[in-house]
Amino acid sequence: MKKAEDFLVKKLEERKQSNNLRLLPAVTPNLIDFCSNDYLGFTRSSLLKDKIKIFEQQIGITENGSGGSRLLSGNRKFTEETEDFIARFHETESALLFNSGYDANLGLLSCLGQRGDIIIYDELIHASLIDGARLSFADRLKFKHNDIHDLELKLQKAKGIIYVVIESVYSMDGDTAPLKDIYDICEKYGANLIVDEAHAIGVFGDHGKGLVHQNGLNNRIFACVVTFGKALGCHGAAVLGSHNLRNYLINFARSFIYTTAMPLHGIMSIRAAYTLLTEQDHQQDLRQNISLYRNLAFTLKWPCINSLSAIQTIILSSAEKAKDIALYLQKSGYDVRAILSPTVAKGAERLRICLHSFNTSETIEGLILKLKTHE
Ligand SMILES: Cc1ncc(COP(=O)(O)O)c(C=O)c1O
Repeated sequence: MKKAEDFLVKKLEERKQSNNLRLLPAVTPNLIDFCSNDYLGFTRSSLLKDKIKIFEQQIGITENGSGGSRLLSGNRKFTEETEDFIARFHETESALLFNSGYDANLGLLSCLGQRGDIIIYDELIHASLIDGARLSFADRLKFKHNDIHDLELKLQKAKGIIYVVIESVYSMDGDTAPLKDIYDICEKYGANLIVDEAHAIGVFGDHGKGLVHQNGLNNRIFACVVTFGKALGCHGAAVLGSHNLRNYLINFARSFIYTTAMPLHGIMSIRAAYTLLTEQDHQQDLRQNISLYRNLAFTLKWPCINSLSAIQTIILSSAEKAKDIALYLQKSGYDVRAILSPTVAKGAERLRICLHSFNTSETIEGLILKLKTHE
């Protein structure tokens, strides 16, 4: 009889040998943040904290948890009002909250695709979307990253209900999808477009409404996923789409149905973060920092992926080199992390540098100088 423990040890040893064993990082305070997805500094924003407190006082929190799923004891008037608020903000028909972006993607994709349908997806989509597609009954086909021609070839062969799944900003590359072109080709073949906006919300578009809105595609695409753990500085996600889509998800999305609803304080954080987005332009400082970084990074010897988003990459093509330089930067006070396979393809190991509205020009210049000493 084979022992499960032996299997675990073997798999971990394989990871160690290929230099990509994942370890939880040591908590090192006071490093300059070039790593988190907290693009607008909302996770530590006192403005956001104050807004959450106001909601707590207005609505009152009498419970620590929600006590059940949304379909049983976990639904609240404030939660539904927040969904309406989010739908209005993004100018879509409806929004349905999920406990995380992972849950939203898993629930959405797994319950849509039936036998005879097909999910066609960009080869670089997030693991949560891939997992959702895998759990569905539909066939799956990937197309080359951001390649309209390859997408069209796949669409020509597709049968049944066709879903095309992309991200508007790719999480490990930082580049953006040619949204309009992809939308047009989907229209040509009658395909239903699903866009994950996890890294676009708060960053792109009027008041951070995202790239779907910026391209005038809200209410035109089939579904959009927005997540709140990144620029919004809290937790959770929503699927945006038609009333029919919302009702369908309430009936069939298992990661929505079979889980305890988010407690009210989580919902209040989301509502407060959205309110904050509507009240001020938080994007200006971030845009300036992205532009400064891009100008400076252009002078580095290493290749960088062309990105207008908050996610910038330096491709080092070796796990050792990526880990080595990340460690050197951390020791110098800059929190930069290496991204290794299997998160990215072998040979495409990189530094993923996240920019924020709160990074100063001195720290961005300092980071580039440190990188130059290591070229
Ligand atoms: C593109 C994308 N979609 C979805 C998710 C999952 O979101 P969450 O962290 O809220 O589960 C992530 C986060 O890693 C992501 O990068």
